Amino acid sequence: MCIQFIDMFLDGAEISHLAGEFEDKDAYKIIEWVNSRFGDKATIAFSGQVEDCVILHIMHEISGKNLSAFMLDTGRLNEEVYDLVDRIYSKYGIKIRLYSPDSGETEDMVGKYGANLFYKDPKYRIMCCGVRKVNVLKRVLKDYAAWITGVRRGQVSTRAQTKKIQFDAQFSLVKVSPIADWTWKRVWDYIKDKDVPYCSLYDKGYTSIGCEPCTRPTFITGDEPTEEELRKGRWWWERKDSAKECGIHFSYDKNQVS
Ligand code: ADX
Ligand code: SF4
Repeated sequence: MCIQFIDMFLDGAEISHLAGEFEDKDAYKIIEWVNSRFGDKATIAFSGQVEDCVILHIMHEISGKNLSAFMLDTGRLNEEVYDLVDRIYSKYGIKIRLYSPDSGETEDMVGKYGANLFYKDPKYRIMCCGVRKVNVLKRVLKDYAAWITGVRRGQVSTRAQTKKIQFDAQFSLVKVSPIADWTWKRVWDYIKDKDVPYCSLYDKGYTSIGCEPCTRPTFITGDEPTEEELRKGRWWWERKDSAKECGIHFSYDKNQVS
């Protein structure tokens, strides 16, 4: 159980101390620390966003191809995301493990509410994200002590307080967000400088990568898009003031950032 890993490696006081200590450290130092502290009990959450490509590249520079990375394959992703997974394997030899939602749970949900239930009401959208993402993530993370995410504070207001290292109460393990303080421009400068493979949807105007029926291009113009510009392609039909979150970085139960 994850909680046992936490007991084995870190206690709450140590996590708060580390959050302060690592705030000024760069992504390389943080990932080196994750490797030495958690070894193969740490895993990268890869969704195909540019942020995840940066993290994968840094991890590869530090530890080569023997790293753990996974993708929640919701069954509703764009082809371009699977193509990126293949290109990453060709370039780095890294196999990103794809996890599918529980088939029974998915069939029940679709049987009751329809395949495109998310457009009907926010409660069905949150239900679909729960079945296709949150529940799958719970299953994946129970075997790990730490997960590494591409979350940035500038993505959306619900992420503004993200620490580079924190305890993730929703999934009961350590959550590491090594580029939490990076800007959009810095991410893209890194991608270009290091020739990091990225999802071709960005060349079609996307600024965030989610599921195909729930994400559309946003066509930003400036160097540093506003939060609204960045996320407006996700669940675009929902009210502007609704949480632009699927529930893996935000707990809808508690209505607070997890
Ligand atoms: S979401 O909560 O709105 O879906 P977002 O798409 O911004 O999250 O992604 C933020 C980070 O969460 C990604 O950088 C990645 O680390 C993780 N993540 C999101 N979706 C997935 C996915 N399908 N598979 C694996 N990790 C994911
Ligand atoms: Fe379902 Fe859309 Fe959430 Fe994907 S983003 S899990 S299709 S509601």
